[in-house]
Amino acid sequence: MNRTMDEVVTTIPTGWLQAGAPPLEVDFGCHRGAFFIGMAVMNPGVNFLGLEKQADRVKKCMGKIGRLGLANAFAVQGLGAEPLQKLLPPASVTTFHLYFPDPWPKRRHAGRRVFQASFLEEIRRVLRPGGTLRLMTDCESYFYEMLGLTRVGWREMPWDDGRENVETAFEKTFRGMGLKPHRVCLQPISTDVMAAI
Ligand SMILES: C[S@@+](CC[C@H](N)C(=O)[O-])C[C@H]1O[C@@H](n2cnc3c(N)ncnc32)[C@H](O)[C@@H]1O
Repeated sequence: MNRTMDEVVTTIPTGWLQAGAPPLEVDFGCHRGAFFIGMAVMNPGVNFLGLEKQADRVKKCMGKIGRLGLANAFAVQGLGAEPLQKLLPPASVTTFHLYFPDPWPKRRHAGRRVFQASFLEEIRRVLRPGGTLRLMTDCESYFYEMLGLTRVGWREMPWDDGRENVETAFEKTFRGMGLKPHRVCLQPISTDVMAAI
């Protein structure tokens, strides 16, 4: 795809959503791309889409992707659930990574957190059957809020998916300070199964 370094696009590469396309993983709030670009290098048979609200960070990601010559990584600017609604059809994503979302630790700011019931429903919509949602945060109150929102309709899966680990930028910082982030891997329970419970 021909594009300049200054351009910020709001579509994803042609072919990524076509039948037979490689699995698609999303890194929401991808920052400067340490995680999803690292994953793309190590997993050439998987497409990685970074979503990020800040245009300068998206440009940095695309610059790195261009320098590395990666055809399986791409970053798009978007805010909250909007890029999911605009770009991703139902059952199109195999893994949704949400790592260190802005914590808004003050109780009066908790409403600004991106992980809300409506956002979670968007994630459920875009996940393919058998797809997973991986969450990681250093903020304990946010983590328990995430667990509360996913208590019904989601099941916990092993964190280890057999792939080599790539640290996110924030994970690296926190682990460097000797801290261990909270994390969980979840899978939606299909509505058929839910109805039978
Ligand atoms: C705390 S940083 C974590 C970055 C990265 N995931 C990591 O683990 O290193 C949160 C990132 O999410 C982005 N972000 C925050 N709110 C967002 C939103 N509503 N929509 C899209 N991106 C958002 C921020 O700009 C920032 O790059």
